Amino acid sequence: MKTRIGFCLIVLTLSLPATAWAADSVEGERLARRVCSTCHSIATGQSPMAAAPPFASIARSRAFRIGGTSLFFKSHVIMPNFAFTNEQAEDVAAYLKVLARRRVR
Ligand code: HEC
Repeated sequence: MKTRIGFCLIVLTLSLPATAWAADSVEGERLARRVCSTCHSIATGQSPMAAAPPFASIARSRAFRIGGTSLFFKSHVIMPNFAFTNEQAEDVAAYLKVLARRRVR
């Protein structure tokens, strides 16, 4: 009985991201354009602020592959810390994953 409840909890947790907050890369791009693009290049080319890595490089970085959305929540040096909701962070991450698959240089 106990194991069955445990199993159900796992299934419930695994299905949450797909149903409750399906990450939306289009929303993520919109958010990135609105909030991040003053400093970062969010598609192609150089960042407006030289110190800010272009999103295309962040998308392909080991740090993002391993850290995922946690990168957005950690303290930065120059970059202001944003109060993201989990949903917004997932959306931006979804957009970065789209970028990583795109052939941008
Ligand atoms: C005011 C300029 C500015 C804005 C706005 C900004 N950033 Fe940054 N960001 C930076 C700079 C500069 C760095 C590199 C140095 C640092 O970490 O502060 C950086 C680094 C990062 C990194 C790399 C962190 C790492 O440790 O590898 C990520 C991820 C990131 N930004 C995401 C975002 C996202 C998502 C947004 C929009 C919500 C955003 N940034 C908005 C300036 C900015």
